Amino acid sequence: MKPDDDVCLCFHVSQRKVCAYLKREQPKVASQLTECLGAGTGCGWCVPFLEQLHRQWASGDEPGLLVPAAGYAARRSDYKASRKSDNTPDVDASTND
Ligand code: FES
Repeated sequence: MKPDDDVCLCFHVSQRKVCAYLKREQPKVASQLTECLGAGTGCGWCVPFLEQLHRQWASGDEPGLLVPAAGYAARRSDYKASRKSDNTPDVDASTND
């Protein structure tokens, strides 16, 4: 994944924005990344990736996701479809118009 690729697809929060937030705000826990433009507060797909970025940063490594951007959005679509089949509520920003 490149720096300008979106980690949070619901709120279009790029990896660059998340990394800048980590360095600037130094959140103690990954859940504080929700304060970075709402990252992770939609469908929830990106939460494990946000947690990974936080773990990398907290351990002193340069945060960066190695997942290929090409399949990232498709995997999120599969995730959302599987959640709907479980009748799990989906709070996606794209449906809040
Ligand atoms: S992709 Fe981040 S909450 Fe949906």
